[in-house]
Amino acid sequence: MPATVLVTWATRYGSTEEVAHAVADELLNQRFTVNAQPMTGVKTLERYDAVVLGFALYMGHIHKDVRPFLLSHRDELTRRPVALFTLGPMHAEEKEFVEARRELTKELAKFPWLSPVAQQVFGGKFDPEKLGLPFSLFPILRKMPASDARDWPSIHTWATNLAGIFQPTMAH
Ligand SMILES: Cc1cc2nc3c(=O)[nH]c(=O)nc-3n(C[C@H](O)[C@H](O)[C@H](O)COP(=O)(O)O)c2cc1C
Repeated sequence: MPATVLVTWATRYGSTEEVAHAVADELLNQRFTVNAQPMTGVKTLERYDAVVLGFALYMGHIHKDVRPFLLSHRDELTRRPVALFTLGPMHAEEKEFVEARRELTKELAKFPWLSPVAQQVFGGKFDPEKLGLPFSLFPILRKMPASDARDWPSIHTWATNLAGIFQPTMAH
């Protein structure tokens, strides 16, 4: 029986979901059975051998759905391999990546029991037209140009490598 992986995400504007689907497709190519759904729709992790979590950063914080997800599935998350990807930097500039990694590390320190087998920051996508409240109230954000720093080849490579990381750690 192929191992079953959950790919689950938290998004505001949809770019993380698109990356999650790309990761899910790559895992399907690697012959995993894959279920892809938003964090808010996940009731139990019982049937999964491994989990991939995807979410973005906003004003230095992880998406608001991540904390309740981590807390309600804490026991199950500690008993199976967890990989994690985070969208943030709006441009392919190293200093933005350094800052996003710093923000992520600070946020994840609130969950010291979580020890991902893989963790990656990817560039994100920004569209000032999509800003809803409260962010649309910030002129500095509204004036920022649209950008898409998602590096699809890197995303595919990361997802492909997950197969090798998951396999040896999964209990069969
Ligand atoms: C209001 C706002 C605040 C953001 N703050 C951060 C931030 O603090 N750090 C960061 O790395 N990226 C930040 N970003 C970039 C987002 O993480 C990026 O746009 C991501 O792709 C959004 O994901 P989503 O489309 O799934 O909601 C911010 C984006 C917005 C719109």
